[in-house]
Amino acid sequence: MKIFALAKINLGLEVIRRRDDGYHELRTLFQSLSLADELEFFPRNDDLIRLSGNKKSVSWGNDNLIYQAALALKRAKPGTYGVEIKVRKNIPPGYGLGGGSSNAAVTLLFLNQLWNLGLAPGELVEIGRQLGADVPFFFHGGFCLGEGRGDLIQPQPEKWKWAVLVVLPPFSLSTRWVFQQARLSLTSKPKVSKINQFLKSGCLAALENELEEVVFSRFPRLREIKEALKDQKAELSLMSGSGSALYGLFATSQQAEEAGREISRLFPEVEFRVCQTVKRSQYWTTIGVGV
Ligand code: C5P
Repeated sequence: MKIFALAKINLGLEVIRRRDDGYHELRTLFQSLSLADELEFFPRNDDLIRLSGNKKSVSWGNDNLIYQAALALKRAKPGTYGVEIKVRKNIPPGYGLGGGSSNAAVTLLFLNQLWNLGLAPGELVEIGRQLGADVPFFFHGGFCLGEGRGDLIQPQPEKWKWAVLVVLPPFSLSTRWVFQQARLSLTSKPKVSKINQFLKSGCLAALENELEEVVFSRFPRLREIKEALKDQKAELSLMSGSGSALYGLFATSQQAEEAGREISRLFPEVEFRVCQTVKRSQYWTTIGVGV
C-alpha cells in the first residue's frame, strides 16, 4: 500500500523567545505543497521494522524519523507486528521543507491502521509532537498558524492557490544550528507581529522569516537568490523554515517555471522544483490515509 507525505513551506516565521526547554517560541504559517515523498508499506509477521529508500545521501537507519515513528508506536502498544517500508524521497532533507516530519506523521497514521492499534488521533499527534516540533502540522495540512514550538496548530481559512518555485541551494542546513545562531541575535523588544497583520489584512508582502538574517549573514548567496526571486516578480519570496530552501509564489506554473529557468541561469549551482500549494481537503485525499 502506497501513501504520500507532502512537503510544507513557512509563509513567514517569527522567533518570539527562547524557552527553558531549549526550544524557541515561534509564530509561523505552514502551507502544504504538492511536492511529496512516496512511502510503500508491506506487513511482516515478525516484529521487525525494515526501512529502505532510493537516496543514498539519506540515512535509512534507526535515526530516520519513519523508523522512530514506527518504534514509538510499538512502544505505545507492544505486540508482535512488523513492517517493511520502502521510500521514494523527493523532498530533500535539511532544506526546511518538513520532509522528515511529514514522513513521521503519515507513518503514524498508516501504521495505526495497518497494525490495528486503535490509537485516537490525539494520541498519534502526541507521539508525533515528541518526534519533532513540525510533526503536528502534518495531522492538519493545508494552511495553518503554528505557535508554541511550532506544534500548536490552528487551521486557517484557505483563500488562495499559488504555483511555488522552490529553489534548492547545493547544501542543506541543520535546524538546531540555525536556531543556535538565532539565539545569539534575539532581542527582547516587543514587536508587532507581521503574521497577525497578514492574517487581518491578507497583505502577503508583510511576511518575513526572522531566521533569514542569521542564515543570509553566513551564506550571502541565499540573499542574492531571494532578491533574484523578487526581480522575477514573485508575489512573495522567503526562506522556508530554517532553510536552506528559498521559494517564490507565482500566479501560474508557467511563470514559476520561467522564473526557475532564469534563477538557474543566474545561479548555476541551484536546483529548482515547481509545485502547487495544497488545500486541507486536497491534502487528505492526496496522502491516502485518514485519521
Ligand atoms: O523538533 P525538531 O527536532 O525538529 O527540532 C530540531 C532543533 O531545532 C531542536 O533541537 C532545537 O534546537 C531547534 N528548534 C528550536 N525551536 C523550535 C523548533 C526547533 O529551537 N521551535
